[in-house]
Amino acid sequence: MPQTQEDATNSVSSPIGKPTPRVDGALKVTGGAKYASDFHFAELLYAVPVEATIANGRITKIDAAAAETMPGVRAILQRENIGRISRAVLSENFEGITEERRPPFEDDVVRYYGQYVALAVADTFENAKAAADEVSIEYAKEKPNVDTHLEADDDPPAVSTTFNVRKRLQSERGDFDEAFRDAPEKLDETYVTPAETHNPLELHATTAVWDGTTLTLYESSQGIVNLRSVLAQMFGLPKENVRVITKFIGSGFGGKLFPWPHCALAAAAARKLGKPVKLVMSRKMMFQTVGHRPRTQQRVRLGAAPDGKLLALEHDYVYDQSMLDTHHEDCGEVTAFFYSVANLRVKFGRAKRHIGAGADMRGPGAVPGMYATEAAMNELAHSLKIDPVKLRLLNEPKLDESNGLPFSSRHLPECLELGTDKFGWSKRTPEIGSMKRDGLTLGWGMASCAWISARFGAEADVELRDDGTVRVACGTQDIGTGTYTILAQLAATKIGVPLGKVEAVLGDTRLPPGPISGGSMATGSIVPAVFSAADAAIASLLNVAIGTPGSPLEKLQVDQLVFKDGKVFSKTDDAGAGVPFQDLLKRANVRLVTGHGKGQATFGDPKPKFSTHSFGCHFVEVTWQPEIARLRVSRVLTVIDAGRIINPLAGRNQIEGGVVMGIGMALFEHTTYDPQNGAPINASMADYIVTVNADAPPIEVHFLNHPDTEINELGARGIGEIGLAGIAAAITDAVHHATGVRVRELPVRIEDLMT
Ligand code: MOS
Repeated sequence: MPQTQEDATNSVSSPIGKPTPRVDGALKVTGGAKYASDFHFAELLYAVPVEATIANGRITKIDAAAAETMPGVRAILQRENIGRISRAVLSENFEGITEERRPPFEDDVVRYYGQYVALAVADTFENAKAAADEVSIEYAKEKPNVDTHLEADDDPPAVSTTFNVRKRLQSERGDFDEAFRDAPEKLDETYVTPAETHNPLELHATTAVWDGTTLTLYESSQGIVNLRSVLAQMFGLPKENVRVITKFIGSGFGGKLFPWPHCALAAAAARKLGKPVKLVMSRKMMFQTVGHRPRTQQRVRLGAAPDGKLLALEHDYVYDQSMLDTHHEDCGEVTAFFYSVANLRVKFGRAKRHIGAGADMRGPGAVPGMYATEAAMNELAHSLKIDPVKLRLLNEPKLDESNGLPFSSRHLPECLELGTDKFGWSKRTPEIGSMKRDGLTLGWGMASCAWISARFGAEADVELRDDGTVRVACGTQDIGTGTYTILAQLAATKIGVPLGKVEAVLGDTRLPPGPISGGSMATGSIVPAVFSAADAAIASLLNVAIGTPGSPLEKLQVDQLVFKDGKVFSKTDDAGAGVPFQDLLKRANVRLVTGHGKGQATFGDPKPKFSTHSFGCHFVEVTWQPEIARLRVSRVLTVIDAGRIINPLAGRNQIEGGVVMGIGMALFEHTTYDPQNGAPINASMADYIVTVNADAPPIEVHFLNHPDTEINELGARGIGEIGLAGIAAAITDAVHHATGVRVRELPVRIEDLMT
């Protein structure tokens, strides 16, 4: 794809925009990459939590006597003997965040199945597990409420969420009720998405080391800076006495954004016993105590003119919520700005259930939300006999009608046009079951998507070293998406050295504080931090250049110099060769020059100048064999408008991953809670079905590549989540096109199609 590199980069050989293999790839495939549970220490102990087997009630007795005398057991910790663990609170600078507010063991009430009620610590994992199994708990048990039908609780008009207080009437303009009543064409449908559970390959794990002063945590975390702050509060320590190290993560999907109780338990055990403690969760625990995407029930009402122009839109959604926590599943995040419609209302409610805390899961809010609204648009297109692409183009807004702001960069029509063309959409015949190939019935469907774009605050250091290498450091994480590589690309391009000369360092709270790996915002957030750090390092180098006796640049003024391709040139000496930075440093007996850089947050800006989002669309083909009720997603084409793509290789990979996960959302994934005891009953990789290779079709990804310089100098927005938005609506519409069956509760089951 065509690129212009002159702006904001410092080299003709800039790696920005070039397909760049991950710089940490070799470490990963050779086993050299160390994950949270790969850190070993002398006298390491192993902790295994005891999980509640009820979802509602009270602990009346914990009998640990037998477990305590078992081989290798060091302690059975519970409320009475674990020591104080306090609550963390959110601070102004977006630290102190927990989705599960109650510290482990705070009271003897059980509010969800699997809640930790005790902790066995022993010299081996096997001994700890055996002891945990031997702890006997008695409960006063009550019937849990895990009802899947969601009615909004009787909450006040404004409710607290994990981050802030929100009005339940989220957005409103015009008069929805009147416009809907008078609309010639109407749609009124309810869409349901189930609870989904994050299933990253790497289990949550903590290795905690307490040396009497400092708590060091090796943790699989998407947010080390926040985790440090939470643990400091929980254990009453100064922040600088907590260190979090997260060098590699086997993915997280949002489940590792904010700390969970196992982490505090491992730390408390290390404090209590004065030994390093490792706690690795089981796959079953992954379904209980580390969040999930809440179940949602969303009523969408559309009023339209016969030509498809939207006249009224209401999105009224309810999601379920754990008893004590306030995770907000923002299904309406996109709704108010996505289409042009004069009369709109977006509102929400919550329904309390005896389940673990909800959490962000890839594309939180917008993904279930856009499933509902885009499915509704497809149904409207069908009933009006309008092409669904045309319906979207007809309702394309000129600005963000929810707040009157211009979009910083919105090219959704171009996405739709390119997608239509590349997919061959004009060959679609709209009649149900009318398209065939090789004896299979084809279904074609499409949907649009969007995801928020903004920056978190971030800081970084860049060092130029006298061996010609560059070090770039930022206290962020790489969840597997390619942040090491992005850091290296950014430093390489600013300094003008090959990638191989750059050392990228992250995943340690001793580094300058970096952003969470969340909200698809890490990349966009670190650009200004790294670039300004590089500028500061270069400024320091120029001072070295003019101040070094015998330097070819001695006696010049800084403003007479220019830095390019890793060299300092004199502006006045056109023919002169530049001097490599390492030569200047060596000549001056300077080992390194360093620069610190900072990027301001735009996320949560109370007075934004632009509405900043990414956009895209999916075109999907399914094949259907009614004789054997066999449904397959056979082809997906996705077009994404996410600003400039810094690394098209990793970028395409992110969109493909989103699409693959979207196939799971549409056809497979759902967590089922047993109405008898509240247990997530399909809590294993055998019973919780995710998309595997055999389910993944050829996926074609196109990026528009229009830089959005409101976000950063490179114009790069995030791409980690948008690929999952909209895809389920495209698939369910393709299913309808092939089978004639409208499924409005995900996932689509074979039983739904056997009519
Ligand atoms: Mo993403 S759900 O912000 O990790």
